[in-house]
Amino acid sequence: MRIQSSADEPVSAGSSLPRLQLVELEDLPWFPRLFRDLATDYLEFVGTRIAMDREIAPILREALERAGATRVVDLCSGGGGPVRALRRRLAEEGLAIEVMLTDRFPNLAAFRRLALAEPGLVAVEEAVDARSVPPSLTGFRTLFNAFHHFGPADARGILRDAVRAGEGIAVFELSERSLRMLIPVLLTPVLVWGATPWIRPFRWRRLLWTYPIPVVPLLCLWDGVVSQFRSYRPAELRELSAGLDDGGYRWQVGTVPVVGAPARITFLTGVPERRTG
Ligand SMILES: C[S@@+](CC[C@H](N)C(=O)[O-])C[C@H]1O[C@@H](n2cnc3c(N)ncnc32)[C@H](O)[C@@H]1O
Repeated sequence: MRIQSSADEPVSAGSSLPRLQLVELEDLPWFPRLFRDLATDYLEFVGTRIAMDREIAPILREALERAGATRVVDLCSGGGGPVRALRRRLAEEGLAIEVMLTDRFPNLAAFRRLALAEPGLVAVEEAVDARSVPPSLTGFRTLFNAFHHFGPADARGILRDAVRAGEGIAVFELSERSLRMLIPVLLTPVLVWGATPWIRPFRWRRLLWTYPIPVVPLLCLWDGVVSQFRSYRPAELRELSAGLDDGGYRWQVGTVPVVGAPARITFLTGVPERRTG
């Protein structure tokens, strides 16, 4: 696997796109849960279909092993994203982990379905805001496709809180602030229309809000475009994590191409160095 560190980050055609903290509809507390859940179901389908877990697994595995962690608190889980596939892949490789699914607006149907299907997945049904993780939720923290939701102050606060709690943290993002990725994202409605018949469980309301009344394709389009503009570039992730600890954490930032898709995953990991003696 070809991992690039932020030091050798290429200056791409899209590097001049400014970071804009626009609003994603799914972040609005008043936004109907039904539409948010249908959109996060779609994201779970995409994350699993393009096998993000294949690229993420070695990076996360190394971070978990360095931290000596087998319990993960997944923040901003949505419909689960790549978590189920990732946990299975790690288990096949001999690393058994338990993952707590959490979200500020939990997709309860998806959480319950995942927890029933997979003994290592635990649904946290109460709202968990990634900006103030309750002390009772101990474990290595992950955020998949969600770190861009937070402006720099909150994003840094999330990293700082992991350090304060002495927990490892890993952030993985498929969205990327570049023209190269913005153009394919404009095709999102077509992808949602194409994917919907295959998304499980089957729901008539999924069809209703996707085909005759295309709320879900338009929601995914808007939130997808905004996600690109809010994404952090590797150098910015490095800045966000700079100086948060006394050197007791090992931070890694980089990108990894997604095999078979014109995309790459940007990641940040922060792991407390285990001191001996
Ligand atoms: C783009 S979805 C990502 C879902 C999933 N991790 C994935 O990879 O498909 C972002 C999720 O972040 C959640 N979210 C937004 N703000 C949050 C916050 N402050 N704390 C926790 N979750 C939040 C949303 O409810 C949504 O489920």
